[in-house]
Amino acid sequence: MATALIIDTDTAQDDCVALLVGLLDPRADLRAITMVAGNVGFEQQVRNAFLTLNVAGRFGEVPLYLGCRRPLVREWVSAENVHGDGSGGLYMDHSGPEPDSEHAVDALVRMAAERPGELSIVAIGPLTNIAMASAKDPAFVDNVKSLYVMGGSNNGRGNITAAAEFNFYVDPEAAKAVFSAGFDITVVPWDPLTLRQAVFGRRKLDRIAALGTPLSAFFTRVCAATLDFDRKVGIDGTTHPDSLTAALLLHPELVRKVSPYHVDVETAGELTRGYSAMSWGVHGLKANAQVIEEIDAEGFYEYLVALLSRSTEPAHAIQGL
Ligand code: RIB
Ligand code: CA
Repeated sequence: MATALIIDTDTAQDDCVALLVGLLDPRADLRAITMVAGNVGFEQQVRNAFLTLNVAGRFGEVPLYLGCRRPLVREWVSAENVHGDGSGGLYMDHSGPEPDSEHAVDALVRMAAERPGELSIVAIGPLTNIAMASAKDPAFVDNVKSLYVMGGSNNGRGNITAAAEFNFYVDPEAAKAVFSAGFDITVVPWDPLTLRQAVFGRRKLDRIAALGTPLSAFFTRVCAATLDFDRKVGIDGTTHPDSLTAALLLHPELVRKVSPYHVDVETAGELTRGYSAMSWGVHGLKANAQVIEEIDAEGFYEYLVALLSRSTEPAHAIQGL
């Protein structure tokens, strides 16, 4: 049976690829997309999500709910220096479905309560919406079957600072609240999974570009800005934190090693805002999350190649594709 899920996203670059996973993998039953402030301007993120629905041939089929437009207590921090507009300049002049009028936090609470214990959430942006939903409805935590979080680093490098990964850095108070709330959490950290195990170098990217499908052209365009940025910071390829997180929920066979950890997030440090303290069981702290430590990286790449090989029929023309 397909996995019922919601993707909570700050849609730009690999968030788009994660949406493709949710929209096209036969193991996924994507019930909704919820938007949260993160990577790029909020309205641009919405455009990127609609663009992705269109390129997947699923325009108008999955509801999009708009969520929190800023972190809980801090100012928004953008990653436009990394992702540009998040869609490689692609543009779709569409009329058609608009975002749903229900707020994303209300939609999350409602949908989880309608099917207690059935719905998984893939959270691939700052955790603002998830923290708000758990504050709004104390039953939300138990109604959600599992929460897959892209964020933090497992005693390794950050990306926005030496200490912190972007999603936790942008809204550390939300991340801290989510890890203490009691969810069944699985973490896909930046380091080592994204940074060291799932980087797509030139040969891999050329093979994807040569697939010749609208999806492969889309992938190449949306990843271009990040590829340039990655090379400047010493990463020899594209990074796929968000699509990896969605894929690991749907394909646990891609997980090679996962361990229980106590995860907490720094909100008060001068140099360590958003640092994820991942304690591996020897410090007397009760585990509150499973942290994935090793994946089948080749298996993940081949999975995305197969996904991007599919032919789709976008309903609206996409300029630049
Ligand atoms: O640190 C990686 C995360 O922030 C991902 O969710 C990606 O979208 C990025 O900008
Ligand atoms: Ca993201």
